[in-house]
Amino acid sequence: MRVKQFVLGSVAGLAAANDDLSSYALTDSQRLISDVMQTGSINGGNTFPGVARPLGMVKLGPDLYTGSDSYSGYQPTGNFTGFTMLHESGTGGAPKYGVVSQMPVVGAIENPLSDKMNDTRASADKTEVGYYKASLGSGTVLEMSASKKAGIYKYTFPENKEHYNVLVDVSHVLSSYRGQGLEQHFLGGNISVHLEEESDKHYYTGFGTYDNGWNRAGPWTVYFCGYFDTESRYKTFLGKDFKTANLEEFSEKSSHESKTARLGAVFSFNQTSVVSRVGVSFISTSQACSNVNSEIPDGTSIETVRDGTRKAWNSEVFSKVTTSETNVTKLNQLYTALYFMHLLPTNKTGENPLWESSEPYYDDIFTFWDIYRSLTPLLHILQPVYYEEFLRSMIDIWRHQGWVSDARSSFHNGAVQGGTNGDNVFADAFLKGVRGKVNWHDALSAMVKNAEEVPVNNNDPRDPTGATQEGRSALPDWHEHGFITPRFGRSVSRAVEYSVNDFSLAAVALGLDDTEKYKKYFNRSLNWRNHWNPDLSALGFSGFLGPRDVEGFISQNPISCGGCYWGDYYYQGLPWEYSFNAHHDLGTIIDYCDGEQKFTERLEMTFTPGVFSGNGAFGNTLFNPGNEPSFVTPYLYSYVNRQDLNVKRSRFIAKSYYKPTPAGLPGNSDAGAMESWLLWSMIGLFPMTGQPVFFIGSPWFSDLTIDLGGGKSLKITSEGGSEEKFYVQSLKVNGKQWNKSWLSWYDIFAKGGTLDFKLGDAPSNWTTGPTPPTPASLGVDEAAILISEWADAGDE
Ligand SMILES: *[C@@H]1O[C@H](CO)[C@@H](O)[C@H](O)[C@H]1NC(C)=O
Ligand SMILES: *[C@@H]1O[C@H](CO)[C@@H](O)[C@H](O)[C@H]1NC(C)=O
Ligand SMILES: *[C@@H]1O[C@H](CO)[C@@H](O)[C@H](O)[C@H]1NC(C)=O
Ligand SMILES: *[C@@H]1O[C@H](CO)[C@@H](O)[C@H](O)[C@H]1NC(C)=O
Ligand SMILES: *[C@@H]1O[C@H](CO)[C@@H](O)[C@H](O)[C@H]1NC(C)=O
Ligand SMILES: *[C@@H]1O[C@H](CO)[C@@H](O)[C@H](O)[C@H]1NC(C)=O
Ligand SMILES: *[C@@H]1O[C@H](CO)[C@@H](O)[C@H](O)[C@H]1NC(C)=O
Ligand SMILES: *[C@@H]1O[C@H](CO)[C@@H](O)[C@H](O)[C@H]1NC(C)=O
Ligand SMILES: *[C@@H]1O[C@H](CO)[C@@H](O)[C@H](O)[C@H]1NC(C)=O
Repeated sequence: MRVKQFVLGSVAGLAAANDDLSSYALTDSQRLISDVMQTGSINGGNTFPGVARPLGMVKLGPDLYTGSDSYSGYQPTGNFTGFTMLHESGTGGAPKYGVVSQMPVVGAIENPLSDKMNDTRASADKTEVGYYKASLGSGTVLEMSASKKAGIYKYTFPENKEHYNVLVDVSHVLSSYRGQGLEQHFLGGNISVHLEEESDKHYYTGFGTYDNGWNRAGPWTVYFCGYFDTESRYKTFLGKDFKTANLEEFSEKSSHESKTARLGAVFSFNQTSVVSRVGVSFISTSQACSNVNSEIPDGTSIETVRDGTRKAWNSEVFSKVTTSETNVTKLNQLYTALYFMHLLPTNKTGENPLWESSEPYYDDIFTFWDIYRSLTPLLHILQPVYYEEFLRSMIDIWRHQGWVSDARSSFHNGAVQGGTNGDNVFADAFLKGVRGKVNWHDALSAMVKNAEEVPVNNNDPRDPTGATQEGRSALPDWHEHGFITPRFGRSVSRAVEYSVNDFSLAAVALGLDDTEKYKKYFNRSLNWRNHWNPDLSALGFSGFLGPRDVEGFISQNPISCGGCYWGDYYYQGLPWEYSFNAHHDLGTIIDYCDGEQKFTERLEMTFTPGVFSGNGAFGNTLFNPGNEPSFVTPYLYSYVNRQDLNVKRSRFIAKSYYKPTPAGLPGNSDAGAMESWLLWSMIGLFPMTGQPVFFIGSPWFSDLTIDLGGGKSLKITSEGGSEEKFYVQSLKVNGKQWNKSWLSWYDIFAKGGTLDFKLGDAPSNWTTGPTPPTPASLGVDEAAILISEWADAGDE
């Protein structure tokens, strides 16, 4: 048995292979989704397999054309259209970025805008952490690596050809073919070619401005600075317009400005080996040049960049979670999931063009709707330093732009799918004791704004009834009625999310001694109850969250969400699923479901195959492992002390729908939301975001140590476990026998701790202690006692 000892910094090069966990991270795991309800034509896990640092600004990788959307640029099939510096990972909606491009072309170029600039694949791309290699139909091999704000391209052109070129197309973006008006546009830019005086080598600088993508962003600009290690000839070009391949000019003019027309340059070389270093910045071309020159100075080899990036992954991410496990499949799953949950958000501190601030700046958070249940609580544990910076950045965005983002990319808010779920992230961090430099009074003000002010409607054609950019656009009904009528899209799914958001706000307010706000928002957090229609029934169960207007309830089939889209009653989830989601008030849900027995049976029905014909890929269960509204449901058995069923259901999901293979995710990765769900299963816990509570599952490993930072750790062991023997028989927490189905942050994370499980093949009713708190069900005064205890523990 190999026990890994981590000495940070020991991963110099690849020599110390035993300490290099990066080889377990399968970055080529482009995952194919099986089916995700009716969410549109999304059909990929959409993870990004190119090169990036943990949370790095640059994500360098290929852009492929297949005729359908390439969300992360990559597709396992199709033709290369460029190799670009900015991407996202695992997102849906419509592609974002795919900008700052280089593309190798062999042969004389007559028109740099023609289709002939695409190239086929000669063989499958090769990827490792920190390195990407593409073999093109032309015979060119292109290797890439990247640092935080710069990248390196190494071209090996085929021998004995006449013209070796690198095409720099400033107007290149990842397009969208979904026909929803979400496609990105190039809006103009500049390119200038310069000669380095001492060396006679050319380099280029400039910028491009773009808009749109999944978040319907307004214009934003990226600056670039690209060097070549060999002498070249060049021509710059300007198109006649944005859409067509018609050339306006293709000449040796050293700079061009474009207002809308396509724009770029072609560099030609006489030798088969060419290395290019490119920096990006959102501030200026000179900052783009200093980013590349400081991170990848002239003469740096691609191996050096790769090793530095691999070392960063090992020291900043992989070494945080260690085990003596030797099963390579499990190790692949562990480190691959850790990899993909650390690509977004991106740290753009020092690169924010919008305002001057000494606070950190993070962008590309994708959406809190996707990541708040599983990803943010795990980032908190694995990356406490980063997490505090991230929270400060959320608040600084509110300070300067008026709103905390619910979803954000390219410096623009957009695509609020449900409530303002950043509120839940704040409450989670606050009740778990994150203090440091976070200004919690400002956080509270930002949360109050979410709860009180109707955001200006940005007229999103997907749901023109209210703003989708930020805030809670259905507040007029929420304020007036305490429920949401169908005059607003997603009325029912948003009502339950607004309730949770109001509870989050109440909790932070109480922690900051604002009892008036606490009472007000606690009260509002109970409004989900106004949507509970006892007359809705399905499969022998009655009482579900239903649509209503001022006259009363509207009839609804609990196992259909109609279109399940922006304008419908429920967004991407069944009424059945959303009826479990008032997570602050589960005691009331259990009552409304006619007690513990019926609640347990309802949960069991959720996972029973064959009862719902709309979910073929997942055995026709009501449960959908591929979308976030169901993420917590397998662990809700904790509330009826049936921890054995937590384990039964979560294990089945993890083992059936997650694989370390290209098709290994049940849905879009969603910026790592799926991967973090899987990681919690491996750890044997699951968070209840917004409360310092973790449900107990069953760990996959006989030992797992999580470095919590500051010299603290959580050590998890299990005895007697195997692929078949995974039911918990007993548990010791910090050495003491445990009989609860849940734990608090303060039991094992605040100061570190130990969990020692005994596992076996038969279910056991070992959880005889008190069930998890259900704060909103306690009433305003008793809940205040509980929340104050949490907040006080956090203050210590
Ligand atoms: C890729 O390029 C080849 C060669 O030009 C072409 O035959 C093929 O249709 C292209 N594939 C796509 C998906 O455009
Ligand atoms: C080249 O890529 C573009 C998309 O950028 C596509 O429209 C065109 O059909 C592709 N051509 C070939 C031959 O693949
Ligand atoms: C490349 O070769 C051509 C033809 O021999 C010559 O005219 C040109 O100056 C060379 N260019 C470079 C950059 O060496
Ligand atoms: C863009 O290029 C034009 C023409 O070369 C130049 O006049 C202009 O100042 C440039 N703009 C910026 C922002 O660099
Ligand atoms: C290794 O782990 C995988 C995934 O959990 C499992 O399917 C396989 O049976 C394990 N192999 C052994 C030898 O235990
Ligand atoms: C984020 O980026 C800034 C600027 O590069 C850096 O100072 C900071 O340490 C980064 N944060 C983390 C957690 O790496
Ligand atoms: C709570 O809300 C109800 C209406 O939903 C209202 O009648 C009551 O006065 C509120 N209580 C407080 C303390 O705000
Ligand atoms: C656990 O308790 C439930 C409910 O009382 C019961 O149905 C089940 O059979 C028990 N399981 C075991 C293993 O005793
Ligand atoms: C659960 O454990 C606690 C603490 O050890 C103990 O006081 C309590 O009696 C136990 N409850 C049951 C029902 O076993």
